[in-house]
Amino acid sequence: MTTADENELLVHTGPGTPGGNLMRRYWHPVALSEELPPGGAPLPIRVLSEDLVLFRDEAGRPGLLHRACPHRCADLSYGRLEDGGLRCLYHGWLFDVAGNCLEQPGEPAGSTYKDEVRAVAYPCHEVGGLIFAYMGGGAAPEMPEYEFLNVGEAHRYVHRSDLECNYLQSLEGNIDPVHLSYLHRPHKRADARAVPGSDDKSADMYYAEDRAPRLDLEHTEYGIRIFSVRNSGPENQYVRVTNFIMPNSAAIVGQEGRVNEGYAVHWHVPIDDTHNMRFDLVINRVNPIDKVKYRSREANLYGPDGKEERRARNRYFQDREAMKTENFTGMGRSFNVHDAFASESQGPVHDRTREHLATSDRIIVQARRQLIEGIEAVQDGREPLGVIRDPDKRDRSELVVMSQVVPRTLDYKDAWKSMVPRQSAAE
Ligand code: FES
Ligand SMILES: [Fe+2]
Repeated sequence: MTTADENELLVHTGPGTPGGNLMRRYWHPVALSEELPPGGAPLPIRVLSEDLVLFRDEAGRPGLLHRACPHRCADLSYGRLEDGGLRCLYHGWLFDVAGNCLEQPGEPAGSTYKDEVRAVAYPCHEVGGLIFAYMGGGAAPEMPEYEFLNVGEAHRYVHRSDLECNYLQSLEGNIDPVHLSYLHRPHKRADARAVPGSDDKSADMYYAEDRAPRLDLEHTEYGIRIFSVRNSGPENQYVRVTNFIMPNSAAIVGQEGRVNEGYAVHWHVPIDDTHNMRFDLVINRVNPIDKVKYRSREANLYGPDGKEERRARNRYFQDREAMKTENFTGMGRSFNVHDAFASESQGPVHDRTREHLATSDRIIVQARRQLIEGIEAVQDGREPLGVIRDPDKRDRSELVVMSQVVPRTLDYKDAWKSMVPRQSAAE
């Protein structure tokens, strides 16, 4: 079980908290690139309980500063983008993406006071259609070489949504293979794609037929490789390989292209302790992604009137009739909505001491343990798991996602190595 003390460590990510200190050792996405087009308005954002402004200077470089101007704390997100930085509206002080104060036009000629003032600035890095920030002190670590960040623009789709609960309970849904047999279950075959090695069966047919998968795991240099194994006749078994990536993302099977052409990543970044941003990255390394299809899928986030989003305040527009005819939840077809219900209904900050953890929660328990070990590592002055300091160790090609039927004679822990072609980035 998770104790009250452990839960306290896990859920708080504000400045100075042990969990916040862990989070601040890693790069996190803070916005989609498309949210900040060249010349676009600065974005007021909140990340890890800090109020920030994200902006792009005239050279196109993203910058992330504390939102309160260092002078007398007016909101910099209202500022003007000009002269190589962001200019505060109140008295015209000008800051660049590194936090340098370039101008203080109200000060006497010859004043050097601007050289003594800095805005708190966090390094940014743009890759994979996302703007990442490093909010820890000292030099930023290396950015891991994830396939999902490095496929070409045509091979990826990115989407952001916000959830009204602590990041960890949202994250935990992604590393919980058992819920696929319930929460997302359609009443009819919904996925036309046959699982490789199967007799024209789709993944949702396996979830429906075997609702108690065997779970297994391996500890890796990035987190946890998760195996969920379901029955597929006397000779075979259906194996899914998914991943927990320290400290707040997961790579899972997803619904893109033919099975095993790509996968999905869900990255849950704390806004504060009771809200998180969910970044969805979908990749297909073989074929370009049909983005029109994904944009139209976003319509599934909305209720029957097509206007109001399915949220807790409207009970996700749950329809009892649809529970009989369409799917398990009666909340429409979007997995994102089902996931939002599951994590938001646990409360703004889930109290894990109320749980009754079972065999099927094995992966969740291990992930919490890894996070607590990470917190302890930071407290001891060590690097937590997955932080890369050596540029030669950025490779993350061992992060593989798989959905496949394999013979029972084959050790499923090796199956992903031999049966999946090396997943390498499409150009
Ligand atoms: S408060 Fe920003 S320049 Fe004075
Ligand atoms: Fe889910």
